[in-house]
Amino acid sequence: MIEVDHVTKRFGNITAVRNVTFHVEKGEILGFLGPNAAGKTTTMRIITAFLPATSGTVRVAGNDVFEKSIAVRERIGYLPENVPLYNHMKVKDYLRFVSRVKGIDDRNRDSRLEHAIELCSIGDVRETIIGKLSKGYKQRVGLAQALIHDPDVLILDEPTNGLDPKQIIEVRELIKNLGGDRTIIVSSHILPEVSMTCGRVVIINEGEVVAEDTPENLTAKLKGSESLFLRIEGSPEGILSTIKAVPGVMSVTTNGEGGYEVDSDVGQDVRRDLAATLVGQGWGLLEMRPIGMSLEEIYLKLTTREESEV
Ligand SMILES: Nc1ncnc2c1ncn2[C@@H]1O[C@H](COP(=O)(O)OP(=O)(O)O)[C@@H](O)[C@H]1O
Ligand SMILES: [Mg+2]
Repeated sequence: MIEVDHVTKRFGNITAVRNVTFHVEKGEILGFLGPNAAGKTTTMRIITAFLPATSGTVRVAGNDVFEKSIAVRERIGYLPENVPLYNHMKVKDYLRFVSRVKGIDDRNRDSRLEHAIELCSIGDVRETIIGKLSKGYKQRVGLAQALIHDPDVLILDEPTNGLDPKQIIEVRELIKNLGGDRTIIVSSHILPEVSMTCGRVVIINEGEVVAEDTPENLTAKLKGSESLFLRIEGSPEGILSTIKAVPGVMSVTTNGEGGYEVDSDVGQDVRRDLAATLVGQGWGLLEMRPIGMSLEEIYLKLTTREESEV
């Protein structure tokens, strides 16, 4: 449903996003996780056709977001990092205004409005001036404006940021309920935040995708694993199955050019067994070296709230 392929975005000298590739299936809720300044907002603005990529492509339901930006925006509901709410307006009037801007025709306007109000549980504040709402309610009004044209794709940029714990739980529940038929990307800089709602998580750091997995696997991987890089000559299928059979090996991937990345349980040094098994089976082991603990460092960043947020 959403295909991000080799997207790079440069602002002058800064490369905010570098060769980012990931796909989201229809009906999936994908967590887009990364520390501050990782490139989440930039990527989301490219997906929603608000910002052109420097290179690479994004397709939503098969449409190139750059070439078919109007068709794409009709399908996408976008909750930006800072929702541009009009604080002097009543909730209902604001949503009516948004629906007009989005070109929802008069016949459907009231039913769409009621539907969005119901989905986001804001019926009790429809006559309230937005400026008087709590942060949690403001965020729901933001979600309602993203939903009002009934899009099948939702892009939510840090929707729980700045909310108190009770509001966070409510907004999380709301996002889960919005899933089903809709395809959703929800960003966060806090791992537990996305593991509750998302079936799959993509981690971005310094503009690059560094991991992609289910929340359970990621947590296990990030918390306690050690990675090795190996260069081996021989048929990849044979080598992969040889490596997998070594005790202590959790997972192995190949770059298709003779390079292999092996994750093992923490505290278990598999190097000796790995080398003996590979050489014993006749594969040409050319190189073996540990890979830095960068994922672990990222994990720490993602699970530690900054002091200002406590
Ligand atoms: N319009 C811009 N001009 C220059 N630099 C930008 C602009 N937008 C974002 N950046 C830079 O790109 C990087 C990624 O930013 P952003 O996508 O907002 O990250 P995140 O949302 O993950 O915090 C940051 O270093 C940020 O300073
Ligand atoms: Mg951001």
